[in-house]
Amino acid sequence: MPPIDDYLAANQQRFEQELFELLRLPSVSADPEFAPQVRAAAEWVAAQFRSFEFATEVIETAGFPLVFAQSPQVEGRPTALVYGHYDVQPPDPLEEWKSPPFEPTIRDGNIYARGATDDKGQMFTHIKSVEAWIKSVGELPLNIKFLIEGEEEVGSANLEKFLATHADKLACDCVVISDTSQYAPGVPAITYGLRGIIAFEVTFRGPSQDLHSGSFGGAVTNPANALCRVMATLHDEQHRVTIPTFYDDIVELTQDERAQFAALPYDEADFMRQLGVDGLRGEAGYSSLEQRWTRPTLDINGLTSGYQKPGPKTIIPAWARCKFSCRLVPNQDPAKITAAVKSYFQSRCPAGIQMEVHAFHGAPGVLVDPASPYITAAAKAIERGFGNRPVLIREGGSIPIVTHFQQVLGVDTLLLGWGLNDDNTHSPNEKFNLADFHRGIKASSYLWEELGRLEA
Ligand code: BES
Ligand code: ZN
Repeated sequence: MPPIDDYLAANQQRFEQELFELLRLPSVSADPEFAPQVRAAAEWVAAQFRSFEFATEVIETAGFPLVFAQSPQVEGRPTALVYGHYDVQPPDPLEEWKSPPFEPTIRDGNIYARGATDDKGQMFTHIKSVEAWIKSVGELPLNIKFLIEGEEEVGSANLEKFLATHADKLACDCVVISDTSQYAPGVPAITYGLRGIIAFEVTFRGPSQDLHSGSFGGAVTNPANALCRVMATLHDEQHRVTIPTFYDDIVELTQDERAQFAALPYDEADFMRQLGVDGLRGEAGYSSLEQRWTRPTLDINGLTSGYQKPGPKTIIPAWARCKFSCRLVPNQDPAKITAAVKSYFQSRCPAGIQMEVHAFHGAPGVLVDPASPYITAAAKAIERGFGNRPVLIREGGSIPIVTHFQQVLGVDTLLLGWGLNDDNTHSPNEKFNLADFHRGIKASSYLWEELGRLEA
């Protein structure tokens, strides 16, 4: 499509500069200290849609606002709903970043910044492809709605409520999300399954204040000792989770799916090098891809107690706290798993400890139909944009709202990832490959053409 291709080529640098503006806003949804900047990111995104005259609304919720924008109506064509998020994970640990997280920097063909790939950079590809259609062709070949939220990284609870009462506004034929990864460099992917999640925080309280461990140690329950003991019982020698009923509802992998995963190129030594580990130690009986994409887990995300500054300090801490989360797979019910986890802790609460177990908002795992015409159309667009046919994969991360799109809107989601596995999402030195940013914009602009050919 010459007019669009020309427009994209002529505007590459401006697109990068604009993405840098968005990346400079520290829109960390988890930390109340950043609230004004999270809101500024919402306004920045809304201004983008207004610049090409989409009907645009910044919709308040009990948390951070939703940005909703809609293209002018094109009769007889299908409607795509593009979802993305303008919030980011906390940048910590700050000292590990080679350039500051909110000062986007280009090194070795990559943009380094918190949110570069997750999800500002990926989400922005769809905004720029739409701009290209409007500014070069004059109109889109289908109807597009955008829904960009600011609470994905904290579970999307307010969007879930909005969706329940505004299904009409969001009505569409399919959802499009770029918030996942390619399978490998040069191997683009369409993701047809994601894991779900449920996150917890458990606090053990003992003495009313920190105690001298010499004067009192040995006579009372140490909350840190006690918490470590309980946490250590959560896995067995096969790396399986020990909580009763945890695996009850899982649908086992089919032989076809196992064969499909086994056929994907996979270099174990390379994978270990990327992670900086000397071996892979997951659940027995499953390949590494199967473990990451299709098996549920329980992992500690943070563990805090007692003295953390330099040098020794001999105390019995008054309390200990652990943040942990379970990745869930399709058919596991987050509410049932929450109940099982809580009852496990209750039955093991040691004497001398007052325990609180808090469950954060959860989301079930999701599978979409890998044979839908939308997937076929997306595969064509990706092949045109990236030069290679995409493979079909599952991924282990979670995008909580996808299940609700399925349940409330009755539509499937196209998970079209432009990122890479080593993009350091949620880690220091998050990056997004610049060439993939531009390929993503291209693939997105072809996607509108391919989807526009389908029945409304
Ligand atoms: N972009 C990720 C989802 C993702 C990660 C997909 C890895 C595929 C592979 C998303 O923004 C994310 O990180 N979600 C959170 C959700 C949670 C905080 C409720 C996640 O998966 O931890
Ligand atoms: Zn994301």
